[in-house]
Amino acid sequence: MSTRDLHLNDSADSISSAVEFVSQALSRAGLAKPSVGVILGSGLGCAADRLINAGGISADYVDIPGMPQPRVTGHHGTLVCGRVKDQSVVMLKGRVHWYEGRVLDDILFGVRLLAGLGIRNLLVTNAAGGINPQFSPGDLMVISSHLRPLLYTVPATFPGHSRMANAFEIQESRGLWCNVLRTVALQTKTPLRIHEGTYAMMPGPCYETPAEIRMLQKIGADAVGMSTVPEAVEAVSLGMSVLGVSCITNCAAGLTDQTLSHSEVTATASAVSEPFSEWIWNVVCGMKP
Ligand code: HPA
Repeated sequence: MSTRDLHLNDSADSISSAVEFVSQALSRAGLAKPSVGVILGSGLGCAADRLINAGGISADYVDIPGMPQPRVTGHHGTLVCGRVKDQSVVMLKGRVHWYEGRVLDDILFGVRLLAGLGIRNLLVTNAAGGINPQFSPGDLMVISSHLRPLLYTVPATFPGHSRMANAFEIQESRGLWCNVLRTVALQTKTPLRIHEGTYAMMPGPCYETPAEIRMLQKIGADAVGMSTVPEAVEAVSLGMSVLGVSCITNCAAGLTDQTLSHSEVTATASAVSEPFSEWIWNVVCGMKP
């Protein structure tokens, strides 16, 4: 057995312990097997607070066996379970990023946990910089396609890369972003402006340079962020349908005179928290179990 196999087995063991832990919490709370999972990006954890206010339960990632801790401000590290209309939903408030220097197993732990719980519909959200000139901070973008211009030259060095390679074939042949869920999202009313577009995942941790944004503009990106794509690839390879949503928190680098900062990102996310949470709730209501 190679060190890679050993590593994968370790990871599978800790996922099963985490699945067991969350399943027991769901059953103690009288919640049915969950059908929807939601991953909440930078500053967007408010949707999980709404689930708690409606009688949901929560567990800190530190208490869930094997669950990696996010280390970025605005990423709380709390799992929340509750009921949205007649569906049981699990929300992950906070994620682990590639740019934190974490291994793929850590980045994908949350998605694997949601898949292990039997979840089939996944909504992945992120904060993103707007590149499309029609987009303003506070708008939403439903992801219809994605770019990964400076990524994935390295996965061969990551444990689990052969699984990811299979996932790329799935993605290439039938697309990653579920058309049915996209239609649900676009038809769900919100006072926020809602667009569809292409998400470019950049490696981070720094924001892009103005020249990188000009490059992304030329190759067709509408918004840019540092997450979501690996989670969506893994989710599709595990048989889930995926909806991706970006909250445009700022104009991308060089498009205004402003210097980008993480506090601008979290401030915009927090300014739209009410309508965003309401919209997420209604999108989940529109998903068929
Ligand atoms: N670039 C990359 N990631 C981001 C941005 C951005 O402008 N805004 C929020 N996350």
